[in-house]
Amino acid sequence: MATVLITGGSGLIGTHLTQLLLAEGFQVRHLSRTPRPGAPVPQFAWDLARGTMDPAVLQGVDHVIHLSGANIAQKRWTAGRMGELYASRSGAADLLRKTVEQTGAFPKSFISASGINYYGAVTTDHVFTESDPPGNDAIGRLTQAWEAAADAWAPHCRVVKLRTPIVLAREGGALPKLSLPARWGLAAPLGSGTQWMPWVHIADITHAYLHALRHADMHGAYNVVAPEQPTNRAFTRALAKALHRPAFLPAVPKFLLRAALGELSSLLLKGARASNAKLVGTGFAFRYAGLEEALGQLLS
Ligand SMILES: NC(=O)c1ccc[n+]([C@@H]2O[C@H](COP(=O)([O-])OP(=O)(O)OC[C@H]3O[C@@H](n4cnc5c(N)ncnc54)[C@H](OP(=O)(O)O)[C@@H]3O)[C@@H](O)[C@H]2O)c1
Repeated sequence: MATVLITGGSGLIGTHLTQLLLAEGFQVRHLSRTPRPGAPVPQFAWDLARGTMDPAVLQGVDHVIHLSGANIAQKRWTAGRMGELYASRSGAADLLRKTVEQTGAFPKSFISASGINYYGAVTTDHVFTESDPPGNDAIGRLTQAWEAAADAWAPHCRVVKLRTPIVLAREGGALPKLSLPARWGLAAPLGSGTQWMPWVHIADITHAYLHALRHADMHGAYNVVAPEQPTNRAFTRALAKALHRPAFLPAVPKFLLRAALGELSSLLLKGARASNAKLVGTGFAFRYAGLEEALGQLLS
C-alpha cells in the first residue's frame, strides 16, 4: 500500500486525514516541528528556521500532502507575522523540494493545501473558477506564492492544489469560535453581512485529499467549496437556528473589526463564491452539500 507523508499532519485537517488514510490502508507519516510522543503514525522532524530535516523522511514516500502553515486568522498581519505565514507554506514546500532534489527520492504526487482567498478578499457576484487570476491584495499574493511553491514540484511529479474555504469541524477551526457568541444568543452578522461565505465540511475536505491521491489524472488547482454558498448573514442565521438560539443582533460594525484586526478583518468582511465544477467533473461528490445539514451534523 502507498506511503503518504503529511506536513502539518498534527493540525485539524491533518488529524482527520490521517485517520481516513489509515482506515483506507495507506501508510502515513508526519513531518512536524515538534514530533509528539504517542502519535498514531511515525513522526519526523524539520526545522524551518534552520532549513533542516531528517532526509530519511522521504525514503519510500509515494505521495506528499502539504498542510503545514501558521494560522492565517490568528494574529494581525504585521510584517513579522506575514513572514511566518509565507515561511510555513512556501518556505516549507521549497525546503522539502530541495531535500528531495538532493536525495533523488521523488514522490509520484505533491498535493498542497491552498486557500479560496487565492482570488483575493473581495465581495462580488462573480463566481470564481480556477482559470481566474489571483487577487492583488495581501491574502491573494500570499496564496499565489504558496501555489507557486507547489508548482515548483511539477518537474518532479504531479501537482494538485486544493483551494479551501472555511473548514467546518466540531472541535477546531472557525466553527467553535463562530458558535461561541451564537450559543449566548449573540449571533450577529459581520459588517454588511452581504459578503459570501463559502465553506466545506471536514469530511469533504479530507475526502477531497483522498480523491486527489487516487485520481492520477487530477492536475493543478481545484476549488473545494460546498455547493450551497451563503452570505455571512445567511450563515449567521443558519448557525443560530442549528443552536436553537435567537438571531440576530445588529451587525458588528466594520470599523470595530478593522480597529481590532487591521487588514486581517478583510477575511471576515469580504467574500466571494467559487465554482466547484472542475472538482465535481472528476467524479467527486460532496457528502455535505447544504449548510443546514452540515451544521446539524456538527453541532448536534
Ligand atoms: N482549516 C481551515 O479552515 C482552512 C481553510 C483554508 C485553508 N486551510 C489550510 O489548510 C492547511 C491545514 O489547515 P488546518 O486547519 O489543519 O491547520 P492547523 O490546524 O492550524 O494545522 C496546521 C499545521 O501546520 C503546522 N504549523 C503551524 N504553525 C506553523 C509554523 N509557524 N511553521 C510551520 N508549520 C506550522 C503545525 O504542525 P506541527 O506543529 O506538527 O509542525 C500545524 O498542526 C493550512 O495550510 C491552512 O492554511 C485551512
